[in-house]
Amino acid sequence: MNTRYLDILKERRSIYNLGKNVTLPESDINQLVETAVRESPTSFNAQTTRAVILYGEKHDQLWDIVANRLKSEVPNEQVYANTKQKVASFKAAYGTILYFTDLSVVADYEKQVPLYAVNIAPWAEQGIGGAQQNVWTALADNHIGANLQHYNPLIDGEVRLAFDIPMDWELRGQMPFGSIEKAAAAKTYVADSDRFKVLK
Ligand SMILES: Cc1cc2nc3c(=O)[nH]c(=O)nc-3n(C[C@H](O)[C@H](O)[C@H](O)COP(=O)(O)O)c2cc1C
Repeated sequence: MNTRYLDILKERRSIYNLGKNVTLPESDINQLVETAVRESPTSFNAQTTRAVILYGEKHDQLWDIVANRLKSEVPNEQVYANTKQKVASFKAAYGTILYFTDLSVVADYEKQVPLYAVNIAPWAEQGIGGAQQNVWTALADNHIGANLQHYNPLIDGEVRLAFDIPMDWELRGQMPFGSIEKAAAAKTYVADSDRFKVLK
């Protein structure tokens, strides 16, 4: 059995201590993200996933938006101090990938395929999940760490304005990525007997 792919899957973890010591050229990172998203399957090949890659000032701007936006959401200064620290850890990363679903394509397919209309949006969500995980795993294969955040919908309006995002693109996730400054701790797994059935 070939296990290279399975071994890379095990390499992919949520890395929260990210840094800027990335040696892979930006053009390669862009190609990696674009290839992983392009090759990730979607229902009816509708290709509903969109991605925006932020570096440098744009990356910083995103995490400043998050930090400012959360100020009015947290109950007190103490909690906000913790929040700011967390957001600073994402800003310390090398870049961020924003993931969107193009709702205009979802709406088109709901009309085109009425029999499955109720499934089109959940399938788009499943599709974007696959794309995110393919990017995350391809980054891990290049020794670049990442994690997945969800400050949407709080930040949607400001992100749209800041990065000129089309109206039909709905923000679904934010993936800061960078050098792995501290490896992830071992994780626990539910028992295989609770998770799998093999029948014949
Ligand atoms: C759909 C999805 C949503 C997630 N949302 C968040 C999130 O908002 N914030 C976060 O820190 N991690 C988030 N995670 C990361 C999970 O907590 C993490 O993948 C899980 O604990 C397993 O750890 P691992 O990624 O190191 O294997 C998310 C993961 C998935 C697949």
